[in-house]
Amino acid sequence: MQALAKRRVPKMFYDYADTGSWTQSTYRENEAALQRQKLRQRVARNIDNRSVKSTMIGREVAMPVALAPVGLTGMQHADGEILAAQAAEEFGIPFTLSTMSVCSIEDVAEHTKTPFWFQLYVMRDRGFSENLMQRATAADCSALVLTLDLQVLGQRHQDLKNGLSTPPKPQPSVLVDLAFKPFWCWNMLQTKRREFGNIHGHVAGVDDMSSLAEWTNSQFDPTLDWSSVEWVKKHWDRKLILKGINDVEDAKIAAGLGVDAIVVSNHGGRQLDGALASYDVLGDIVDAVGDKIEVHFDGGIRSGQDVFRAVAMGAHSTYIGRAYIYGLGAMGKAGVTKVLEMIHKELDVTMGLCGETDITNTGRHNLVL
Ligand SMILES: Cc1cc2nc3c(=O)[nH]c(=O)nc-3n(C[C@H](O)[C@H](O)[C@H](O)COP(=O)(O)O)c2cc1C
Repeated sequence: MQALAKRRVPKMFYDYADTGSWTQSTYRENEAALQRQKLRQRVARNIDNRSVKSTMIGREVAMPVALAPVGLTGMQHADGEILAAQAAEEFGIPFTLSTMSVCSIEDVAEHTKTPFWFQLYVMRDRGFSENLMQRATAADCSALVLTLDLQVLGQRHQDLKNGLSTPPKPQPSVLVDLAFKPFWCWNMLQTKRREFGNIHGHVAGVDDMSSLAEWTNSQFDPTLDWSSVEWVKKHWDRKLILKGINDVEDAKIAAGLGVDAIVVSNHGGRQLDGALASYDVLGDIVDAVGDKIEVHFDGGIRSGQDVFRAVAMGAHSTYIGRAYIYGLGAMGKAGVTKVLEMIHKELDVTMGLCGETDITNTGRHNLVL
C-alpha cells in the first residue's frame, strides 16, 4: 500500500505523511520499538472461536483500532476524510476527523451515519475553538479528541523543501510531478474540496491559509495548559480524550482531570525529535494510571501484530495513522478497507498463535519481557 501510494500521490503530500520532524529519530523509533517486542508462542490451547471485538470509551468496536486524526487527508485522495470515515463506519471502528482536515465536519457528517470523533486543536482565537466544538456537537460527534502535543510545530524538513500547501501552488516542479499522478489528478478534478474545510470561511482576518506551517505558527495557542482542559470541558459535555501524552507524570495529571481516555502518543514522531518511542512509554503509563482511565496508544503501528503488542502491553485500544493513509492514497476507500481487513486478520491469527481466543483477555503474559 505504501509503495502504491508513493506512486500515486503527489510527492508533496506523500512526503507530508511519510516523514518525522528533524532527524526523524522518533519517527523511526516508534516502529522499531514495536518490532523489538517479541511475542510468546503458545501451542495446543484450543484456539477455535476467536474474537478481537472490544470497546473504546464505551463504544463497541470490531477490533481495538480507530483511525487517528490526520491533517490534509483529503489531499492524499480526493474527499479522503469522507472515504476513510465511510470505510471505518462499514468496518465498525471509530473515525477521528482532524481540525486540519480538507473535508469539513459537516461534509463528513452528511456522508456517514455513525457518529464520528472530532480532534480539536486549541487556537489563539478561543472563539473559533468554541465554534468548532459547537459545530462538532451539531454534527453529532460523540467524542472530542483534544491534542496536546502540537501547540508549536516540529520542523519537517521535507515539507519546507516541497513547499507544502493546499491546494498545491502551480510551480514548475509541482506541475511536472502532477503530470505523473493521473489517478490523483483525475479524482481531485471531480471534487471541490481542496482547502482546510473546517477553517476556510470560518476565520476572519487570515488571508492565506494554504501553508500549514505558517497557519499553525500564527494561529495555534501556545498558552495551552492543563487549565485549558477545564475550559474545553465547559464547552464540551460528551466524551473527552486527551491525545499526545508521552510521560508518566503527564499521564497522572491527565488521569486526574476526569476525562474518558488518554492517548499515549508522540504525534507519530512528527513533533519532539528525540522523544521516546510511544511504545517504550506505554507500559509505565499503564502501570501508573491504567486502573483509573482508558489508556489508548498510537505510533508506529503497521500490522495486526503491532496492535496485539500494544494491547498485550496494556493499551485498551489503538489508533493507526500512516497505515490507513497509505491505503487511502493507494486505492481510495477500498484501500482503507483493505488495510483494515489485513490488520484484522493479522491480529486474529497472531492472537491465536499466542494461545488466546479473546483480545480482552490478552496481557503481558503474551509478551517476552
Ligand atoms: C500526515 C499526518 C498528519 C497528522 N495530523 C494530525 C492532526 O491533524 N491532529 C492530530 O492530533 N494528530 C495528527 N497526526 C498524528 C496522528 O494522529 C497519530 O498520532 C500518528 O499518525 C500515529 O502514528 P502512525 O502514523 O505511525 O500510526 C498526524 C499524523 C500524520 C502522519
